[in-house]
Amino acid sequence: MDKLIIEGGHRLEGEIEISGAKNAALPLMASTILAPGKHLLENVANLRDIDTMCELLEELGAKADRSKLDSGKILGIDTTGVQSKRAPYELVKTMRASILALGPLYARFGCAEVSFPGGCAIGARPVDLHLKGLEMLGAKVSVEHGYIYAQKQESHPSEITFDIVTVTGTENVMMAATLTPGKTVLLNCAQEPEVVDLAEYLLKMGAKIKGAGTDRIEITGVETLSPKSHRIMPDRIETGTYLVAGAITGGDLLLRNAHPNDLESVIAKLHEAGVRIEETGQGLRVWRDGKLRGVDVRTAPYPGFPTDMQAQMMALLSLVEGGVSMITETIFENRFLHALELQRMGANIKLEGNRALVTGVKKISGATVMATDLRASASLVLAGLAAENTTEVSRVYHLDRGYERMEEKLNAAGARIRRAKEL
Ligand code: UD1
Repeated sequence: MDKLIIEGGHRLEGEIEISGAKNAALPLMASTILAPGKHLLENVANLRDIDTMCELLEELGAKADRSKLDSGKILGIDTTGVQSKRAPYELVKTMRASILALGPLYARFGCAEVSFPGGCAIGARPVDLHLKGLEMLGAKVSVEHGYIYAQKQESHPSEITFDIVTVTGTENVMMAATLTPGKTVLLNCAQEPEVVDLAEYLLKMGAKIKGAGTDRIEITGVETLSPKSHRIMPDRIETGTYLVAGAITGGDLLLRNAHPNDLESVIAKLHEAGVRIEETGQGLRVWRDGKLRGVDVRTAPYPGFPTDMQAQMMALLSLVEGGVSMITETIFENRFLHALELQRMGANIKLEGNRALVTGVKKISGATVMATDLRASASLVLAGLAAENTTEVSRVYHLDRGYERMEEKLNAAGARIRRAKEL
């Protein structure tokens, strides 16, 4: 296992290229199951989760090949040979997003077996709404021996209301409905830009979808879909993370290939905290020219403040000297584990239920800290960039799941981060 050793206190200056979005690439990759043939995806980041999705597709009988062109960001997926309908535990346990195979497998074959994902570090994360959606489309769903079994009974397009806004749930049921005869209406849908990117690819493949990006999506089933090519949208969470990197080090960064429209709530909150952000012809520039202020943050489904940026924001607010901030986490019940590690670095954070009261301190100091999930790891790296002395972030495999070459990108902008083997 690897760890990162960060020498804190270096101001970041320069350019960082934003990669393709992990959370857009994963559902798009799963959607290739719907249409047998050769698909071509561009701007696919080199990440562990993407490799896991490739493994899953290959396990099902597809062929996934990264081209040598464009630094390996072009991914060809040939789903002609997909025959297996079973997503095994060994893959699903390493990546919950494997559940995204359920909708496409069911739609193409009328049956699917996907390992039940189970819990994870940030909370219970059930999939009941994915299953309820498939049932409403006409599937008989059962859970046996740790697997979800979905079997087509009779297709009945219908109106499905999600009790809670769920991103992968919306994506899974939307994919399944593309090949379900008649009209399906999904209500209380996730409006995340990644849902829109997926819908755009499904439309290219020949699906009939209206309303993606709103809370009401209407899908009219078609008989077949055909493979196409698509460029994955830039990663808005990676963008937000590097905006915080610029702010927390008092630096001046230009984020190339960023899509500011997809992260308005994050940019607005950083502005409120006193961070300067500007769209230039070349990208998104972030810098600071005064003191920061404490702000209150409440996570919410898109277009609200993303839960995937909460940990990084907490690292920044911990260093707003004298500023008091209240962070309320409304999406995942156990998503404050990074707060305990930030405290070990000297941050002043009081936790009560789903709220964290952050009283900014002048400085934090390097420590050995442990990452518990992807975004928590990112927040610890950000804290390490601004801390005195050296911070060691262990279990970096979490970070490698979702950030492409993070230390390389940060080092090119002046950070001093080294990767080493954990003993
Ligand atoms: C996706 C993102 C993840 C992000 C999350 C919230 C991907 C691959 N992952 O995860 O990075 O943190 O959205 O923005 O896109 N819920 C249920 N029943 C369900 C499904 C969800 O109760 O069947 C609850 C969850 O426990 C959670 C809330 O709904 O409290 C939102 O979760 P959801 O949007 O489904 O998260 P994911 O799609 O797993």
